[in-house]
Amino acid sequence: MWPIDCIEHKRDGKVLTKEEITRFIDDYTAGRIADYQAAAWLMAIYFQGMTYEETKELTLAMAHSGDMVDLSSIPGIKVDKHSTGGIADTTTLIVAPLVAAAGVPVAKMSGRGLGFTGGTADKLESIPGFHVVLPEETFLEQVRRIGLSLITQSGEIAPADKLLYALRDATATVESIPLIASSIMSKKIASGADAIVLDVKYGDGAFMKTKERARELAKTMVGIGNLAGRPTRAVVTSMEAPLGTAIGNCLEVDEAVEALSGKGGRRLMEVVEAIGAQMLLVGGKVRDEGEGRALIRDLVASGKGLAKFREFVKAQGGSTSWIGKRPLTKAPQVFTAVCTDEGYITRIDGRALGEIAMAMGAGRARKEDKIDPMVGIRLFKELYDPVRPGEALFTLYGKEGADMMALAQQVADHIIVTPDQADTIEPVVSEVIV
Ligand code: URA
Ligand code: CA
Repeated sequence: MWPIDCIEHKRDGKVLTKEEITRFIDDYTAGRIADYQAAAWLMAIYFQGMTYEETKELTLAMAHSGDMVDLSSIPGIKVDKHSTGGIADTTTLIVAPLVAAAGVPVAKMSGRGLGFTGGTADKLESIPGFHVVLPEETFLEQVRRIGLSLITQSGEIAPADKLLYALRDATATVESIPLIASSIMSKKIASGADAIVLDVKYGDGAFMKTKERARELAKTMVGIGNLAGRPTRAVVTSMEAPLGTAIGNCLEVDEAVEALSGKGGRRLMEVVEAIGAQMLLVGGKVRDEGEGRALIRDLVASGKGLAKFREFVKAQGGSTSWIGKRPLTKAPQVFTAVCTDEGYITRIDGRALGEIAMAMGAGRARKEDKIDPMVGIRLFKELYDPVRPGEALFTLYGKEGADMMALAQQVADHIIVTPDQADTIEPVVSEVIV
């Protein structure tokens, strides 16, 4: 009897048919399947897994559970980029204008973040006047005109995922590769992307704790994206330490502008180049990764990426007079800490720094929380850099009344300096999965 037979099939390790999967998602979204039945089904998937074909059907069923954004009025291959989430990761704000400057249209719907800092939409909203809520027709027109727009999701994207994610959260079934892959890919497909480039992160500061799990998730998402007719590639990257040097909303916009001006950090630019090259490849602008990386570097050096960023900010109502002239960040309290030891930075605990930034007001724990765009942490050193006594290590930007000395001590506790360089240097980008 439906839906018990479908739960039984997965419990017993059978491969579900497209009809079973689609009907299960439709019925659950419409309230015709009880939460306890869906929870049992999810647990069966957790233990038995799913084939790529099943995962693709689950992804498409979830994508079609709500609005499907239609980007067909925009000429060209619309490429979306998604990161599984990291700390000091301002890649989207850098790579989107670079790729748009190369002629690949970027029509991005981005979430507001839950977590250490805001999402990309929150970061952009810290620019005075910038609108992230635009009518769909304005959004589409802007992409046709300048090749780039970013708004928060309008309408209802993949409501089945919203329901299932809440249920997974309450039933210890989040950590399943087919469930994570279908959750992420359903939202990308419903958002209208023709092609998708994923940044799948691993490490202490990431959702996937090990490189092996991140690779497996990346392979699954690439497999189902390709099966669903949306060419997909993934870059597997390290989140053992913060990616960039800024943790905080205005600070991350400032870091993006610096990166577009040719002053980006080593780790951040490595990921920008890797992701940008894949976006140019799937967007049909270059023939191989090397050509893509070279074009990304050219677009930074020529200032074309920064010019596109300025055009994009202006188009969405934001102030541009500060760009290239002064930082956006202005906090009531600013405190710079210097290094006391000589040696090398062998560990920066990104998760701990993220938690401190969040406690300072940079992120939200619940969706009704308000973000303070000005606060956060700016590092002057990256993982593996040499340091000398007296060199500036980081600056804190705090609210009125914040105990800056105590916060600085907390941050310093999570930056480890040792006399010798680390035994193994972990590359930021370990693999590209196609
Ligand atoms: N992010 C998502 O969107 N879904 C998951 O299941 C996990 C992370
Ligand atoms: Ca961040």
